[in-house]
Amino acid sequence: MSAGLPEVDSALLQKRIDELALITEAQPPVVTRVLFSDADLRGRDYIRKLCEEAGLSVRIDAVGNMFARWKGSAPDAPAVATGSHTDAIPNAGKFDGVVGVLGGLAAIEALQDAGFKPMRSIELIVFTAEEPTRFGIGCLGSRMLAGAIPPEKVAALRDPEGASLDGLRGRAGLKDALESVVLPKKFYSAFVELHIEQGPLLEQQHIPIGIVQAIAGPSAYRVRITGEGGHAGAVLMPGRRDASLAASELALAVERAAHQSGSPDTVATTGKWEVFPNAINSVPCDVMLEIDLRDTCLETRDRALLLMRSASDDIATRRGVTIVWEEINADPPADGDPRTMEIAEDVALKLDLATARMVSRAYHDSLFMARVCPTTMIFIPCRNGYSHRPEEYSDPAHIAAGARVLAGTLARLSHEPP
Ligand code: GLV
Ligand code: MN
Ligand code: MN
Repeated sequence: MSAGLPEVDSALLQKRIDELALITEAQPPVVTRVLFSDADLRGRDYIRKLCEEAGLSVRIDAVGNMFARWKGSAPDAPAVATGSHTDAIPNAGKFDGVVGVLGGLAAIEALQDAGFKPMRSIELIVFTAEEPTRFGIGCLGSRMLAGAIPPEKVAALRDPEGASLDGLRGRAGLKDALESVVLPKKFYSAFVELHIEQGPLLEQQHIPIGIVQAIAGPSAYRVRITGEGGHAGAVLMPGRRDASLAASELALAVERAAHQSGSPDTVATTGKWEVFPNAINSVPCDVMLEIDLRDTCLETRDRALLLMRSASDDIATRRGVTIVWEEINADPPADGDPRTMEIAEDVALKLDLATARMVSRAYHDSLFMARVCPTTMIFIPCRNGYSHRPEEYSDPAHIAAGARVLAGTLARLSHEPP
């Protein structure tokens, strides 16, 4: 235990990251673990066993969020929490979310091995469906914990095949009412999430630890464009109402709006397209787009949205199509808690690890945990900033360093007086 801070078993942590990566719907090294898929459920079982072996008591709520608790000497005081997610988008890598879950467990085990006695209990959370892949909405588990989505809206969610979230969770043995997921007030005193940066800055600046001071606010829209179909050979060009061409114009308008918002932090992506009937010799009559729009500032995000909506009206009129927008979510940004950030920085300093404050442009469960209790995130570098792709990679030494900073931070927070 150097600098009074416990060592993390880096080799064991790597072994577990590698083992979990083999639980995938895709061909390794590609990781795909979509909510309630066999791989997602087996991945959770894998984590659950490790937590039980570490002597933590495990509870699973009605939407599948898993809580593994190390009981402190003041078990009734609000607990300190850490954690992240193990679901993975199609064609992903093995570190996104996983570093926060297995690194969180490694941090707890390091404290146990060092003989640390927590005052506040320390809890590891594995959040359900941080990724929006199956139901189109991100941070589902943490969103529900924070009471930021009505349970009836969750119950009504359907995946693209028409399967309901309620049916799928029932098949996974989760039977309690969705209303029970929301956390009581003052359940946690603080939350700290360890995560790979998913961007290039720490690596470029040779800084091992990022401390997250803000998380950009994500929003998402589903847009249905309806035109008129017909035979690709027989329908002449004048007067066509091609839904796919209208969608293409809209995607370009989305890009333009992000550039013109007035902030370099506005980003917008049209990443999901469904074209009907999707046949080479048929004029597309129906297109569904999903648009992801984010910003650190709500004013410029709103400005970009207005520009998109006005372009959409213009395209609809010019091309004779109908365009209907549906908001999937529009979440405000979150701020890091100053005191929690300072504690993490102080721990890193004691470990001789340089830190930088940064903004998370990706969203995380911390976006919603920040509504529940004081929150920050610890970022570690990842190669070339790659994430959401199989080439995602973080150096074992960086992962272990992040887990050590987390361990020290959890220890300090656990002894914070009420
Ligand atoms: C999370 O995965 C995000 O899309 O930011
Ligand atoms: Mn992700
Ligand atoms: Mn993640």
